[in-house]
Amino acid sequence: TLDIDAADKRFILGNLAFSSVGFLLTVWLIPVAVPYMLRKGMFGMDINKRGSPGGDIKVPESQGLVAGIVFLVCTIIFQHFYFSADSPWLVEYNAALASICFMIFLGFIDDVLDIPWRVKLLLPTVAALPLLMAYAGGTSIVVPKPLRWLFKPYAGGDHFEIGPYAVPVPEALRPYLAPYLSSYVIELGWLYKLYMGLLAVFCTNSINIHAGVNGLEAGQTVIIAASILTYNISVLGGIGVGWPLAAEKREAQLFCLYLMQPFLAVTMGVLSYNWYPSTVFVGDTFTYFAGMTFAVVGILGHFSEMLLLFFIPQILNFLYSCPQLFKIVPCPRHRLPKFDPETGLLTGSNDLNLVNLFLRIFGPLTEQQLCIRLLVFQGFCSVAAFTIRHLLTGVYK
Ligand code: UD1
Ligand code: MG
Repeated sequence: TLDIDAADKRFILGNLAFSSVGFLLTVWLIPVAVPYMLRKGMFGMDINKRGSPGGDIKVPESQGLVAGIVFLVCTIIFQHFYFSADSPWLVEYNAALASICFMIFLGFIDDVLDIPWRVKLLLPTVAALPLLMAYAGGTSIVVPKPLRWLFKPYAGGDHFEIGPYAVPVPEALRPYLAPYLSSYVIELGWLYKLYMGLLAVFCTNSINIHAGVNGLEAGQTVIIAASILTYNISVLGGIGVGWPLAAEKREAQLFCLYLMQPFLAVTMGVLSYNWYPSTVFVGDTFTYFAGMTFAVVGILGHFSEMLLLFFIPQILNFLYSCPQLFKIVPCPRHRLPKFDPETGLLTGSNDLNLVNLFLRIFGPLTEQQLCIRLLVFQGFCSVAAFTIRHLLTGVYK
């Protein structure tokens, strides 16, 4: 049983209907968009098939644009039915859509102009601005129980405790520090907004660099989106949280559900063309759109720690990539495996990412086998995320 009433149920089903239409529209519109993309030279070479018979074909790029537009149309029209003018969520819903829309726009610009890496990194902070500026929700975090020994509340005294150490607080700083350290609820203020901006940068770029194999960009996105939906439903079902839910928590889950259902639908639409052998590429338009949508629901739904658990493969890939990202080791434009035209298999290159690591572990694979293994790992990490959550239940209480 879920903590929802009959009206919620109607909206969930209505949203599901919108999402199904969104899926069909995406599937219908991609072939319509493709010739226009090709006409303007918006295509990429399928690198992992170079040298194979029929492998050197031009694959239309940036089809995330279609998914993004369909998603926005669905969510904007849904708003008309769902929100009343005085709904407290309306402003945040619109801010969320504005940030996602801005991100799609900047992602498409990146596909067209091939923006240098350093500048690319900043695009999501710009796109997140509508959300950051409109955000009026809580900006505090609760120190989880297992970490509390590290950090005893500073009750306005002359010191605070970090583990066994008493750290003196200079007189002049006391009035400033007191509000931050007076309980296990830490008020972060503008630092929280900084955190939101960084989350947007991380989610977008980490999906974008875990890529380059047919079906991987859209595939990982489908798994993360499905995991978030499962999480929202489990919370509505009262799993791991007090029952009945606080109204705000309940609304937050529904809010995410209404964004994640259409998002999952349009992503599956793209995946149906992007799956091996890809007839379209998703482009940075899509990876940025996906990352920003995840960041937005994680922030507004107040489950960014759970979101980061669903991003374990992306976090590992990012950490492993750091030497190349920070140019300690040379970083080529594409960090993709080597294709052997004799066997038709991919072998790992020296580039430092999960794609190549998997090939080194599992040996030469076809592109499809490689993608499936990476996606199974993604799914496995989601299961691990739910397990961790289950084990830690109650740590914030
Ligand atoms: C990121 C990665 C890069 C990887 C690329 C693949 C980093 C720092 N950057 O760059 O190493 O090569 O994504 O998307 O890790 N492509 C394929 N097969 C696919 C998908 C893409 O061959 O299944 C190729 C196509 O030529 C396509 C191009 O990758 O045109 C798209 O690359 P783009 O998304 O622009 O690369 P980046 O995101 O900058
Ligand atoms: Mg990319």
